[in-house]
Amino acid sequence: MGNDIRVLVVYASRYGSTKDIAQFIAGRLEEHGLRVHVQSASEVHELERHDAVVVGSAVYLGAWMKEAAEFVRRNAANLSKRPVWLFSSGPLGTATTDGQGRDLRVVSRPKEFIEFEAAIKPQDHQVFFGALDPAKLRGGHRLIGMLPAAKKLLIEGDFRDWRDIEAWAGGIAEALVPAAPAAAMIR
Ligand SMILES: Cc1cc2nc3c(=O)[nH]c(=O)nc-3n(C[C@H](O)[C@H](O)[C@H](O)COP(=O)(O)O)c2cc1C
Repeated sequence: MGNDIRVLVVYASRYGSTKDIAQFIAGRLEEHGLRVHVQSASEVHELERHDAVVVGSAVYLGAWMKEAAEFVRRNAANLSKRPVWLFSSGPLGTATTDGQGRDLRVVSRPKEFIEFEAAIKPQDHQVFFGALDPAKLRGGHRLIGMLPAAKKLLIEGDFRDWRDIEAWAGGIAEALVPAAPAAAMIR
């Protein structure tokens, strides 16, 4: 198993649903024998001590949360030397396409993905459906939530697809945990 491979999972989450996704991914990676630390993007990180990094953020108005974007920019040199996986949590509702028939997970990509693709060359970037409890909204979000135009997009409910997230985490584990040597498999 990949016992000495250390993975850092970093997240930015305003209302907690992206934090749950980060913790869930960490749990799946641990099941594969990886050593995992989960930290908020605003905490201090010891990137050097980790072999791989997963970074995720909630998406607001088409962009990653500031602390997640700043984490990637601040650590771009270090991140580009390690395998990195990025994820966003954003689109809401049960529809998989928007009014124009476009894949919601594609149109919901945060604007930073293009920049990060070039800067750190991640192994993958993925968009997951998110969750929204309008009663929890604070500050400017509360005001935006009251706009008639926003109501169509800001659908109340929990649309996180755990099987989808699990499959993605499984792909990360497969990439990081070296396969058993062929000789061992024959015996
Ligand atoms: C004011 C507001 C704006 C949002 N803008 C977007 C957006 O542009 N794209 C998107 O995919 N999701 C958007 N969302 C949905 C959130 O990304 C989703 O609720 C997410 O799961 C929240 O994560 P958190 O609980 O970790 O903060 C928005 C939500 C709110 C309240």
